[in-house]
Amino acid sequence: MNLNILVLPGDGIGTEVTREAVRVLRHAARKWNHNLKITEGLLGGIAIHKTGNPLPEETVRLAGDADATLMGAVGLAEFDNAPPEKRPEKGLLGIRKVLGVYANLRPVRAYGALLDSSPLKNERVAGTDMIIVRELTGGIYYGTPRGITESGGETRAVNTMVYTRAEIERVGRMAFHLAGGRRKKVTSVDKSNVLENSQLWRRVVTEIGREFPDVALDHILVDNCAMQLVLNPTRFDVVLTENMFGDILSDEGAVLAGSIGMLPSASIGERKASGAWVGLYEPVHGSAPDIAGQNKANPLGAIGSVAAMLEYSFGLKKEAAAVNGAVEAVLESGRVTADLKPTGTPATTEQVGEAVCAAIG
Ligand code: IPM
Ligand code: MG
Repeated sequence: MNLNILVLPGDGIGTEVTREAVRVLRHAARKWNHNLKITEGLLGGIAIHKTGNPLPEETVRLAGDADATLMGAVGLAEFDNAPPEKRPEKGLLGIRKVLGVYANLRPVRAYGALLDSSPLKNERVAGTDMIIVRELTGGIYYGTPRGITESGGETRAVNTMVYTRAEIERVGRMAFHLAGGRRKKVTSVDKSNVLENSQLWRRVVTEIGREFPDVALDHILVDNCAMQLVLNPTRFDVVLTENMFGDILSDEGAVLAGSIGMLPSASIGERKASGAWVGLYEPVHGSAPDIAGQNKANPLGAIGSVAAMLEYSFGLKKEAAAVNGAVEAVLESGRVTADLKPTGTPATTEQVGEAVCAAIG
């Protein structure tokens, strides 16, 4: 198969973890005889430095031409006080929108080897296996009007949470489809006791649920969901939610798995003429400036994102399973980075990447 991939390493540890993810991708392509073409582009803080724009035109063009995009992370401390329009994150939000990747899939699994790394008691977290489906191109992240205005001596800031029926329907269907191949349960998260936006969300998700009679649906308020994630994480199979709630809940979910460095994500859009699904793949973690450049970041979230790419964009299930199996084998072997609290000397980012390749064989 032809795998035409755009790589956007981004900022901070993004470049380091992406290097290992690409190592694993090259290894898998060689092993299963896929024709891999990798192009590299600029996104985030590095793109601002080199072009003045967090999402240069050239990157938009490259992403449009590629079958799938692999991203590291964006964000640099020097932009901490910059307005949203001028931040590296603007590039990430821009590319999600340009590619139309409306469904962000964030699987949260408690690996046996990592139970002791979880902040929860082992017996509570053991068996956790959920996937958070976060709407990614709508809601308060993109709604207008937005901005900060001054008038009559008062300063006012506005953001708008907006969803259309169509936006809720398409991400809702994605969640029910996924649940059909899993434990057949969707939990939809909203704040319908306060927000009209959530009332529409709940109504439309309930309607979509009727198209999938073999999948059970329950609704939960977002504050309660935050609590249930730590009280009873095994109750969740597919968690469906809007953009900002999903952002918050997926960080919470990530630590259940032992470390936010572990979590991959897949953002999926429509199907292309080539047959591949438009996809943007990135670890859930950020650019972590505090440990950048030290070869100690955990690359497993990025490597898991490669597995997700093979599976979702290209339908290469065997290859994806081999990468995921290798990640699990490396966890069992204890050859892991410092965030996973190894006994003895932690492995470097690079060593973990090499270990995953070796485990693939
Ligand atoms: C994420 C990140 C991004 C988001 C930031 C970096 C803009 O937190 O992917 O979860 O909020 O979507
Ligand atoms: Mg986030």
